[in-house]
Amino acid sequence: MSTQTANSGKVALVTGGNRGIGLETGRQLAALGFTVLLGARDFAKGEAAARQLGGKVEAIALDVAAPDAAALAAAEIERRFGRLDVLVNNAAIHYDPRARALKPDWTVIREAFETNVFGAWRIAAGCAPLLSTSGHGRLVNVSSEGGSLASMGAGAPAYSTTKATLNALTCILAAELRGAGVLVNAICPGWVATDMGGPGGRPVAQGAAGIVWAATLPDDGPTGGFFRDGKRLPW
Ligand SMILES: NC(=O)c1ccc[n+]([C@@H]2O[C@H](COP(=O)([O-])OP(=O)(O)OC[C@H]3O[C@@H](n4cnc5c(N)ncnc54)[C@H](OP(=O)(O)O)[C@@H]3O)[C@@H](O)[C@H]2O)c1
Repeated sequence: MSTQTANSGKVALVTGGNRGIGLETGRQLAALGFTVLLGARDFAKGEAAARQLGGKVEAIALDVAAPDAAALAAAEIERRFGRLDVLVNNAAIHYDPRARALKPDWTVIREAFETNVFGAWRIAAGCAPLLSTSGHGRLVNVSSEGGSLASMGAGAPAYSTTKATLNALTCILAAELRGAGVLVNAICPGWVATDMGGPGGRPVAQGAAGIVWAATLPDDGPTGGFFRDGKRLPW
């Protein structure tokens, strides 16, 4: 059976799917045969992105920072598909390398946690029953080596603490979903040339490939791990 046929009928949701790594992840999953839902806080941008990709790709309104967003999106996916095979928690904000923890900007820090941590958390919790129904669910938290405690240094206080927390959440979710056939991993895409990463990073296709790897792991694949390019990173 071809990969496309094997994935035909499978449904993937990518948050922050209207540009950058999320959009490219959607492109690659669609090429593998998935029906892809591009989550976008601005639905019009999501629709434009879906049109750009073509194929079995559509937009879904999803502001991960909105308290009721997860429930609404999960209800729509339940109604239309009855399950979810892949969730990619990709949406994130506030990479703040020049900021310092000793001069905290609480607005930035709170906003970063609301999107990067609570956003991913509420979508994961909202979609967990649908991922469990799949029987082969894959939950990918798009993290960053910036969240690794093993190499944590000065700067980027909002971003790094949110990604470290997302990593912790990954371990907890993996444990809570063990037995439901759902593999949960944190993935660093590397430094990627997007609006967030800026110029000089590697091509977006390369960054997204590691996410797609985690989204398409075989049933005996790893869970509760932290990876870049399919290789383990230290927590
Ligand atoms: N680029 C890098 O070098 C790099 C390195 C390590 C990790 N990462 C991680 O990779 C992921 C993608 O990064 P990127 O470089 O593609 O970032 P990006 O170019 O800034 O794109 C971020 C995406 O997230 C969306 N988003 C932000 N807040 C949202 C919300 N509340 N609800 C829904 N969507 C929201 C944005 O939507 P709008 O268009 O509406 O703003 C956009 O689609 C992030 O988790 C990031 O931390 C990136």
